[in-house]
Amino acid sequence: MTNNIRLKGEITVPGDKSISHRAVMFGSLAKGTTKITNFLQGADCLSTIACFKQMGIDITNDNGTIYVHGNGLYGLKAPKDTLYVGNSGTTIRLMSGILSAQNFTCTVDGDASIRKRPMKRIIEPLSMMNANISSIDDNFCAPLKITGNKLNAIDYTSKVASAQVKSSILLAGLYADGITSVTEPYISRNHSELMLTAFGANVWTTDTTAHIEPATELFATEVNVPGDISSAAYFIAAGLIVPGSELLIKNVGINPTRDGIIRVVKAMGGNISLLNERTVAGEAVADILVKHSNLHATTIEGEIIPTLIDEIPIIAILAAFADGTTTIKDAAELKVKESNRIDLMVNNLKAMGADIVATDDGMIINGGKELHGATIQTNLDHRIAMSFAIAGLNIDSEVKLDDYDCVNVSYPGFFETIESLL
Ligand code: S3P
Repeated sequence: MTNNIRLKGEITVPGDKSISHRAVMFGSLAKGTTKITNFLQGADCLSTIACFKQMGIDITNDNGTIYVHGNGLYGLKAPKDTLYVGNSGTTIRLMSGILSAQNFTCTVDGDASIRKRPMKRIIEPLSMMNANISSIDDNFCAPLKITGNKLNAIDYTSKVASAQVKSSILLAGLYADGITSVTEPYISRNHSELMLTAFGANVWTTDTTAHIEPATELFATEVNVPGDISSAAYFIAAGLIVPGSELLIKNVGINPTRDGIIRVVKAMGGNISLLNERTVAGEAVADILVKHSNLHATTIEGEIIPTLIDEIPIIAILAAFADGTTTIKDAAELKVKESNRIDLMVNNLKAMGADIVATDDGMIINGGKELHGATIQTNLDHRIAMSFAIAGLNIDSEVKLDDYDCVNVSYPGFFETIESLL
């Protein structure tokens, strides 16, 4: 039973969130002016800009193109107030690595969600590097107090596959006294490694270990940000589940450390193809063509998880519409994202009539049940909100969100894009 809508057309999605953050941070530490095109003007990346402006970096926005006038590796100035990261885990974790090596003391804080997210994962390795970093409330969460120090290189093995942890340590490693290495259980997104190389740092990877040499200087460059595959994922899903749909999503980043959603959709029998594959500024990019498909269940586990970690909420929606039992394992990290995404996906899908159970590290979804509308509890999590908005396109009764504005964290214009396709 459906709304009698079908989605047809060609869209672009906003710039990649991970790449946008990094371009501002690395540009701030470089000598010269970094030009960033297709920068994501979402709340999270605007928080990164605000923090670096507070540290004396001149950052201008010319009709959507961002210019970062870097001050060099040692050019940041002590901020007068607390650095406020809003909802952004990437900002607080990556910036902490940089702040660990500056010659000033500062505090870093964020919203209620950030204050609940685990910071021990960066406090521990950065402290091993001789950083002076502590949780002000002594709970290993924000607010953090950081006093820069002379850092020593470490060879660190992380329990979690996390690009935020890896990048935080690599950024501190730029200032260390030797080669710093980070080993992960599975490889996480490698945008820092690719972009730091473009800025002139010496970074390399062996198996699941990233290594960095200390640098004396980074050099400004131009960053052309591809469309965010995590944002494209909502429209990939919409095209697949809404009968009669056919969507072309242009200029999407398909870096192999981020493309798990494409592999999963293929495994579920989805009609998806990559067109015009190319490389832009070191990142793989393609146009994605997706057509309505009858999906079937799959199992998602192991090393693919970090490559689709932010897409699991929308994958759970796909699984609810697919035939058979989909199992998602090895994804306990979902509990410490902007919300507990296991609980929220399970509770909200149950409220819509789905057959789904939470497990310790994922969920099991018996797909194909008839779903109905409900009011969705988002906990102000952008990805929960967008996932259920897409589910609502394929249901007769209304899916209401308890908050719509939270989508602006990563996807300003999300609802307008949906409207444009109807
Ligand atoms: C990100 C890494 C991931 C991801 C987040 C962005 C990044 O987090 O979930 O949205 O830009 O490095 P983790 O490193 O915690 O897995």
